[in-house]
Amino acid sequence: MKNIVVLVSGGGTNLQALIDAQNKGNIHNGKITCVISSNPDAYALKRAENNQIKTYVLTRKEFLNNREYAIALTELLNKENADLIILAGFMTILDEYVIKAYPNKIINIHPALIPSFCGKGYYGLKVHEEALKKGVKVTGATVHFVNEVADDGAIIMQGTSEVRYGDTPEVLQKRVMEEVEWKLLPKVASLFCEDKIFIENGNAYIKE
Ligand code: GRF
Repeated sequence: MKNIVVLVSGGGTNLQALIDAQNKGNIHNGKITCVISSNPDAYALKRAENNQIKTYVLTRKEFLNNREYAIALTELLNKENADLIILAGFMTILDEYVIKAYPNKIINIHPALIPSFCGKGYYGLKVHEEALKKGVKVTGATVHFVNEVADDGAIIMQGTSEVRYGDTPEVLQKRVMEEVEWKLLPKVASLFCEDKIFIENGNAYIKE
């Protein structure tokens, strides 16, 4: 059984999707063992507590710099014997110290079809604002491994949503979450725990 640690900073609807999947028995060979928040007021913490999942709060301002924060986070992940680390709306910069300590064990969900609308500065509503500005007709979400460059790691799985005339960034964000994010993330978490994801020539693939 793999230990899944979920890193959050906000509302935690993706965390909720993981918890719901786990409660339905849909995360095979993995269990959410703890949730770490970089924000003490994150509603995600409440969601974890409601489900008897251990929580930690580790705020960036307790530390001198990103490296010190990353060292403390890595120690916590080591202590928790993390096998899979899921960034589910984690808004604090992850220094490469953590990424090097957990190569191909950290996954992130990004609310667009990478390589579109991603990278530095593309988070939250901004992603959907830019998709609407460009007039794309299809958008979606991507689950990928985390490397040292923002939204650049190997793509594991993507799902699509239609963009409709009259969409606002808020409406589009909600559609992408409901139609794609909340399904994709638990699916990838389960595949990871079942050792069904492999990397070849820098790309990620799913074993049939
Ligand atoms: C999601 O849109 C996710 O794709 C992005 O951050 C948001 C987190 O939302 N990385 P929530 O906290 O899971 O509700």
